[in-house]
Amino acid sequence: MSEEVGKEAEPRRVIITSALPYANGEIHLGHVVSTYLPADIFARFNRLKGHEVVFTCATDDFGTPILLRAEKEGKRPEEYVEYWHQRDLKDFSDTGIAFDFFHKTSSKENIELAQHFFTLLHDKGLIYENGITQMYCENDKKFLPDRYVVGTCPYCDAMNQYSDGCENCGRAFTHTEILEPRCAICGRSPIMKSSLHYFFKLSALSSRLLDWLNNNENLQSEIRNYVGRWIDDGLKDWDITREISWGVPIPLGDEKGKVLYGWFDNHLCYISSTLLYLKNRGIDGKAFWNSSQIYHFIGKDIVYHHFLFLPAMRMGSGEYKLPEFIPTRGHLMLKGEKFSKSRGRYIGLREFLEVFPADYLRYYFSRITSYDQSDVNFDWDDFAAKINNELVASIGNFIHRTLSFINTRFEGKVPEQGELADEDLVLIQKIKKIPIQVGELLQRNEMDRGMRAILEFSGICNQYFQHKSPWVNTKESFTTLNICANAVRTLAILLMPYLPFSMTNLLSQFNLSTSSLSWENAGLLEVPVGHEIQAPTVLFRKVEKSEIDTRKSLLGKGGK
Ligand code: 2FM
Ligand code: ZN
Repeated sequence: MSEEVGKEAEPRRVIITSALPYANGEIHLGHVVSTYLPADIFARFNRLKGHEVVFTCATDDFGTPILLRAEKEGKRPEEYVEYWHQRDLKDFSDTGIAFDFFHKTSSKENIELAQHFFTLLHDKGLIYENGITQMYCENDKKFLPDRYVVGTCPYCDAMNQYSDGCENCGRAFTHTEILEPRCAICGRSPIMKSSLHYFFKLSALSSRLLDWLNNNENLQSEIRNYVGRWIDDGLKDWDITREISWGVPIPLGDEKGKVLYGWFDNHLCYISSTLLYLKNRGIDGKAFWNSSQIYHFIGKDIVYHHFLFLPAMRMGSGEYKLPEFIPTRGHLMLKGEKFSKSRGRYIGLREFLEVFPADYLRYYFSRITSYDQSDVNFDWDDFAAKINNELVASIGNFIHRTLSFINTRFEGKVPEQGELADEDLVLIQKIKKIPIQVGELLQRNEMDRGMRAILEFSGICNQYFQHKSPWVNTKESFTTLNICANAVRTLAILLMPYLPFSMTNLLSQFNLSTSSLSWENAGLLEVPVGHEIQAPTVLFRKVEKSEIDTRKSLLGKGGK
């Protein structure tokens, strides 16, 4: 598929998913930067390209942490996850993250698909039963899966890790490997007790996984290298059973009190939600899935699951094709350290949106987040500087001066071009080329470089306007403003994936309908002479120093 990247290929089917948020806490800026914003910008770009896009997500509802939280709040887990499902949906839509469909891993469709996969893999001999000894708390009288046990990571010695994986080094492991285990409920040391579990034969798929990794150049090379090393080190079979009540029931009929591990069913919700969305539109989802280019957007903390468990299950089942791309990005850091709610290094999405427009968040993050696993630093001063010096002073300024000038000097009607001077021709060439340049970058997922190219373009437009000084040179000002009006239209299309709220507003000031626009015609100078615009209003306001000082003073106090 890599040879298609950058080429202006015919319309195609594109399935885009972003990692599923656990239904037990609010979305924060870290989630947005690594996963949801890059996926949304990519989806919007592909829609403008005219491709058939399905962009889905869901809440990740099952598992021990969620059950624990629901129990603590005295709620049924169904009720507990529904609250977060609705809350996440609202936060996403307020940020302009426009999923075609937002489902739930605890939905009927996903439970059925997970059970179907279990049965298929079991029938193919890729799931087997094995008696294991497991941790059991005699005080609480229960088996202790995953997050019911805390201890020290056997790989990097990080303390206070849950027994299914390490948040510090990213390795997944099992409860038998964690060091100095303690019961997460009462803190006592657990005893070992035997129980029957199901295992997925990950080891049997090692060489196929390695082939997939080595032959798929669309996957980021850094990740291919280290996942390749994990495979070379030897993969262990994967325990997919949990002794809790909140999960997908094991479909063999005799498994009382046991369910499937959340990481068995959650990524299947990429498929089940896409299928349901398509089914509701009368489309054969499986055929669509298998003829699409598939992108799963994730953060780097879940590489193990997406580069091993997910492809192995799809290979084993043989029914649904693997992703071509798993765009993976780093963590968001605040003052050089990872976001942490308990330590007050934390900014909630809703908290941010109460103070600044969603497009400011989208501008800043798309501007500073590269397509790799390096961590992204959030800094309030840098945020204010980039909004004020770039979005307001360059992009906003050019748009506003053009629309204001047409409004006041040309009675709101786009004037016609006269004879073209060299300078005019240079800008016209730029208008024609910039969509190709930005389009190639967005196709390669390089949203930050795309935004920098747009910024450079708006800088050139401002220089042109300034140099042409239409306020003194009345004869040439017709041509200048005609070209500037076309440049504004081009900017509106290029910025649509990044800043959907402001660009929708701009298009309405410009009297252009969104549906008439496409990436392919972004470089055409097709604003009709005499086209009437409305009196413009300011699109972007400056961020004041006092606002930033307030935000900074709230950091570390009360978790803001
Ligand atoms: O790590 C997490 O937040 C998980 N809820 C991500 C799940 S993504 C998937 F594969 F479903
Ligand atoms: Zn570790």
